[in-house]
Amino acid sequence: MEYNIALVPGDGIGPEVVEEAVKVLHKIGEKFGHKFNFKYTIAGGAAIDQFGEPLPKETLDICKESDAIILGAVGGYKWDHMPLDKRPEKALLGLRYAFGLYANLRPAILYKTLKDACPLKDEISDKGIDIMVVRELTGGIYFGEKGRKETEKGKCAYDTELYSEKEVKRILKTAFEIAEKRSKKVTSIDKANVLESSLFWREIVNEYAKDYPHIELNHMLADNATMQLVRDPSQFDVIVTTNMFGDLLSDEASQITGSIGLLPSASLNEDNFGMFEPIHGSAPDIAGKGIANPVAAILSAAMMLKYSFMLEEESKTIENAVEKALESGHRTKDIAGKGEKFLSTSEMGDVIAGLL
Ligand code: IPM
Ligand code: MN
Repeated sequence: MEYNIALVPGDGIGPEVVEEAVKVLHKIGEKFGHKFNFKYTIAGGAAIDQFGEPLPKETLDICKESDAIILGAVGGYKWDHMPLDKRPEKALLGLRYAFGLYANLRPAILYKTLKDACPLKDEISDKGIDIMVVRELTGGIYFGEKGRKETEKGKCAYDTELYSEKEVKRILKTAFEIAEKRSKKVTSIDKANVLESSLFWREIVNEYAKDYPHIELNHMLADNATMQLVRDPSQFDVIVTTNMFGDLLSDEASQITGSIGLLPSASLNEDNFGMFEPIHGSAPDIAGKGIANPVAAILSAAMMLKYSFMLEEESKTIENAVEKALESGHRTKDIAGKGEKFLSTSEMGDVIAGLL
């Protein structure tokens, strides 16, 4: 098959890690007889510098003509002073919104060989971590009404958490379908002891779960969930939650697996069109040094094959190669032990491509 992929390398380490994902995809194409056509395009800080806006129409058009989007990262110190709607992050939010990418999948897996990189005690990490965070991505407080106004309290600013029944149901569908293929356990995370929108969310979850009697459902309050994630992450399998809570919990989940440089993500719409990106940011402090970990970007490409192109075997082949590379001791700086030798970004990409 032939696939057209829009590449949005973005800022910071984005371009470096996206290159390694491309390398791996070329190799997979050769091995399985697919043709991947790549089109580079520009967004984020890079686009602000060149065109004066984070998400130029031309970029959006290239993405629209593609079968999937691979994004590196956006943002950096340079643009931190800009107003919200002109910042690099707006490119990310704009792409999510433009394509209706409401289902954000963020798997957090602790590789046995990286147990030492996990900051939790052995007695906790020995039980393993294998969590799929399903985060709602186009609703909630990120996209609700926001603004500034004068009230009797003086100058004020506000953001609104709003969820429709339809938005909640469609993310539940994603979560429950994924749970069917895993250990049939869903934890829904909310703040139903305080927020009306959470109470509503919880009611819909309870109603929805009636169609899945064989799936174990738990509700957990978000504050408790952040604590439980470090106390005993093995209790979680599929987590389903709002845009905001999912943002916080997925960062926490990534850190307990050793390095944020390892974790991929998929953002999908109803038609399985998607944007695939490492969950790490642009890491401007290490950009251009060739030390970034390309694993998250490479695994994001694997998620693209699985979730948008339905190429399960090809996807698994990449995952296996990553695992083999790690098991045989290959490390980038972020996951190397003290004084241990480590590979550059492109050397790690070469090793993984070589193992396909
Ligand atoms: C993420 C990021 C984004 C988010 C930012 C950069 C807009 O933190 O993908 O988790 O908050 O969703
Ligand atoms: Mn985040």
